Amino acid sequence: MALGIAFLGSGFSARFHLRGLVGVRNVEVKGVYSRNLNSSKEFAGLSEQLGLGKPKVYDDISKMLSDKEINAVWLTVPNDAHLEYTKLISEEVSQGRSNVNGIAVEKPLARNVKEAKEMIRLVEKAGLLHGYLENQIFMPSVVRAKEAIWEMGARNSGRPYLARAAEEHSGPHNSWFWKPTISGGGALIDMTCHSLEATRFLLTDPSKDKSSLKPKHVYAVIETLKWNKEEYARHLKERHNVDFVKEPAEDYALTVITYEDDIGNLIMAETRTSWNFVGAGLRLSVEVLGPEYSVNINTLQSELSTFFSRNIKLPPSETFVEKQNADQGLMPIISDEAVTYGYQGEDRHMVESFLSRKMPLENWYDGLLIVQLMMHAYLSAENGRKISFDPQQVEDFIPKVARGLYSTI
Ligand SMILES: NC(=O)c1ccc[n+]([C@@H]2O[C@H](COP(=O)([O-])OP(=O)(O)OC[C@H]3O[C@@H](n4cnc5c(N)ncnc54)[C@H](O)[C@@H]3O)[C@@H](O)[C@H]2O)c1
Repeated sequence: MALGIAFLGSGFSARFHLRGLVGVRNVEVKGVYSRNLNSSKEFAGLSEQLGLGKPKVYDDISKMLSDKEINAVWLTVPNDAHLEYTKLISEEVSQGRSNVNGIAVEKPLARNVKEAKEMIRLVEKAGLLHGYLENQIFMPSVVRAKEAIWEMGARNSGRPYLARAAEEHSGPHNSWFWKPTISGGGALIDMTCHSLEATRFLLTDPSKDKSSLKPKHVYAVIETLKWNKEEYARHLKERHNVDFVKEPAEDYALTVITYEDDIGNLIMAETRTSWNFVGAGLRLSVEVLGPEYSVNINTLQSELSTFFSRNIKLPPSETFVEKQNADQGLMPIISDEAVTYGYQGEDRHMVESFLSRKMPLENWYDGLLIVQLMMHAYLSAENGRKISFDPQQVEDFIPKVARGLYSTI
């Protein structure tokens, strides 16, 4: 039996999921709804072209959810709409008007703890399964790194004590990301969620529960290094109609988490994320250190590269790698980004979980912890000091940047 899924949102991430779903069995894309009908139609065409089914394009979300063949929803709308649509889907399911039994939501789960907790309350009340789409912990390189660390390094010399992860590129593709009052912040809310979960995943002993790694302290620095400068702010105004001088967000975030494991070992995670990295394109890097070993991942050190001389002029594209910055010279090519970045792995896990009616291993409680860590990071950056991890203190916290009160020096 195939899982019938519907997409809420048909943009950048939704299309990455289509490419990820190509390698997944027992799934059919049955419907799509977004704010932009043309984009939904294009998405439906791509789904058909990829052999994933011919989804019906809806302009009424309730109609889509009432399609008896739709069993799960991939929620790929901007951050400010995650709660609103969770409410809507939960309501339709609770009223018996939908056969949906699971929701997979894109990162970050929510913009703050209050929203995240409300989302969990709603899906639990409706009896829905919930998956948190954190692609990086499904990257084949990260999964293999975890095996090497724990099956060889940790078993023979001791557990890893430090993980570093960075996600860097030259800035988001769509306007809403640049509006912190809509997205919830800057590079930290957008990308630190990835690096926090990737490091937590690698540092957690696979034979133990995730709760065996307890956050103790959080320290963070956020800054705006590039995009508030006149020339770049002008570019944002022209391209995205945002005033990054008046309403800036951080384009750089450093976050350091101190964890303690179940036998009292001190463990550290460092994450560095930025929207001001100019290189071939998106760079995901991870490093893990243990007593007698280390592992390294760098997605721009690709096995495949190309060279185009100055004598040919290629139009700007992202054919070789996401957030590509140049079209000439020596360029890495990532053969299949949906696989390399972990979309295929996460989509497979969500489809298999929903089909067998099991809670995904990566679910909204993981998303909530990541939101709590990010809120601690914002709080630490605002206070300019390391703070203890205490979820109570971020229960109602909304970062200054998300309230339009952040200013750059
Ligand atoms: N895993 C990743 O690496 C990754 C990458 C990009 C985006 N994301 C996440 O995916 C989500 C979507 O981001 P994106 O890059 O696809 O954005 P996008 O702007 O490319 O696409 C958003 C889609 O949602 C639709 N939409 C917007 N507002 C809506 C509303 N109120 N109601 C219905 N439809 C609406 C748009 O029409 C569009 O189809 C975000 O939460 C983002 O953080 C994750």
